[in-house]
Amino acid sequence: MAGRIPQQFIDELLARTDIVDLIDGFVPLKKAGKDFQACCPFHDEKTPSFTVSQPKQFYHCFGCGVKGTAISFLMEYNHLEFLEAIEELANKAGLPIPQEASLVKTDSNLSELYELLELVVRFYNRQLREHPQSKRAVDYLKDRGISGEIAKSFELGFAPPGWDNLIQELGSSEAAKQRLAKTGMVIKRDNGGFYDRFRDRIMFPIRDPRGRVIGFGGRVLDDDTPKYLNSPETPIYSKGRELYGLYQARHANKDLQRIYVVEGYMDVIALAQFGINNAVASLGTAATSEHLERLFRATPEVVFCFDGDNAGRKAAWRAMETTLPLIRDGRQAFFMFMPQGEDPDTFVRSQGRESFEDTNTYLALSDYLFDSLKQNTDLNTTQGQARMMEEVIPFIRQMPDGALRKLMVRDLANLVNSDSDYIESALGSGTSARRSPSRPVRRQQNSGSDNLIGRMISMLLYQPDLALRLDDYKVLEGVPVAGVDFLLELLQLIQSNRGISCAGILEHWRDTRYEACLKQLAASNNELFSVSTNLEAEFDDALARLLDKKSRQKLQQLATGKLSSLSEEDKATLRNYRKTEEKN
Ligand code: GTP
Ligand code: MN
Repeated sequence: MAGRIPQQFIDELLARTDIVDLIDGFVPLKKAGKDFQACCPFHDEKTPSFTVSQPKQFYHCFGCGVKGTAISFLMEYNHLEFLEAIEELANKAGLPIPQEASLVKTDSNLSELYELLELVVRFYNRQLREHPQSKRAVDYLKDRGISGEIAKSFELGFAPPGWDNLIQELGSSEAAKQRLAKTGMVIKRDNGGFYDRFRDRIMFPIRDPRGRVIGFGGRVLDDDTPKYLNSPETPIYSKGRELYGLYQARHANKDLQRIYVVEGYMDVIALAQFGINNAVASLGTAATSEHLERLFRATPEVVFCFDGDNAGRKAAWRAMETTLPLIRDGRQAFFMFMPQGEDPDTFVRSQGRESFEDTNTYLALSDYLFDSLKQNTDLNTTQGQARMMEEVIPFIRQMPDGALRKLMVRDLANLVNSDSDYIESALGSGTSARRSPSRPVRRQQNSGSDNLIGRMISMLLYQPDLALRLDDYKVLEGVPVAGVDFLLELLQLIQSNRGISCAGILEHWRDTRYEACLKQLAASNNELFSVSTNLEAEFDDALARLLDKKSRQKLQQLATGKLSSLSEEDKATLRNYRKTEEKN
């Protein structure tokens, strides 16, 4: 998604936006020192810990950990998708979105596809009412207990038997057929010609969060195979991103307090029929991080519903692994297992809404993790305890700092008869993102070279124009320290975007593996520098240390290499180096 908007436009948009004005329009801010504050709009609190920094164009809540740029704020606060947030900011700033960027207005090819699929929805709806064989389809839906009202609200349709119903209706020209093929609704034959993908099936239109039809699922009316057929990946449909029912859930609920993630179309629909209109299904794939980010933008609580069988357990474990790194304060995940042989559809029909919504049966993510691991570990033995630690620690390490992480550390400590401090130390340095405000700044400054790069990135996020102290960032190429490549990229970015803010920098790494870490550094760098008197000097010093490492390495190579092959310049360097070493 992010890729479709030119990064330059985002830079400009952020430069024209003031995050303080923006947020103040939703949450009145008060000046506090050099920052602005309010009670956090993302969690309940009585004393303000939500802080907005004007120079950084960045917000951060010390209570629940939310943080980000003006774009992130709109996404979180107004439950918008990235593009929607961009559009809103662009409107406010009076900047037209570049032609090639906006999905609907710009890419005429894509907007044609959306319009076409809208016609397809209507065609299949009409077939469900009017086709000579529609009775079979209607009877099937009735048989499965689906009311006319629910069928209507999910826009269910009927793809009649036959190879060319859709083509006859919407594929009058070759170009029209090509377009249908692009949506995945018809398939091109090897020897020319086209045929309908969906035949003799109940049709489930899939809408994206903005309400555009992007694809379909289709179910047979009997025991034929494949039971379900789905649209293929197309320019407008990506399984790893879309969720069936999210659009309907967002519309049925002004404020989504919880979303159920189920496996099938029929589960979503059956639940809706029983008044549970906040269920979504991932489309024949396991839930991805992208799915979950999308869900957590819409709701604070996700409940995964899985079948109680082996496959369901496996799927649940994967979902746990995907969710864990995304759980920060204000986000919760639960697991719910159906009795053997049931799915949410059959369960809600036989047990009713109340049983389904009985939160006592939901397992919190952490309980699910511990319970699962406990099953094959004997915690009465020290070996068992050690094994438990070994198993759980990698999971905790992936979690962002927050209440749940602390709880899990405490629970693990209890389980293995230890204390939280011990667990924290076992978690070790893999937790660079965690830094408590009370930790003395001095210790940070003196910490070893491994954190030198992190510290420099922190400094640059705090005061980007430090990058201009370096004439040519390329001198850092080849510095033998991990992370230097990233530092180079960052320096280059700032040097070629004079005046870029911290937020502007962060947006360059949105949706990459660096995003979380950068945001964490941006959130914590105030404390790091509040006592630091001379950032420029410290930055220069850090640069010098990096360059020193580079020359030391080079010297080492020289000293171990063949002297004869040295250039005059290298020899001089080596002599100088030896002199200084003797003095020291
Ligand atoms: P019903 O039998 O209609 O109740 O379906 P279900 O939703 O209970 O089916 P199931 O649990 O078998 O499948 C769950 C989801 O997996 C479906 O909603 C589909 O998205 C997907 N799925 C199931 N069967 C197939 C198949 O044969 N092919 C594909 N591509 N996807 C399938
Ligand atoms: Mn089912």
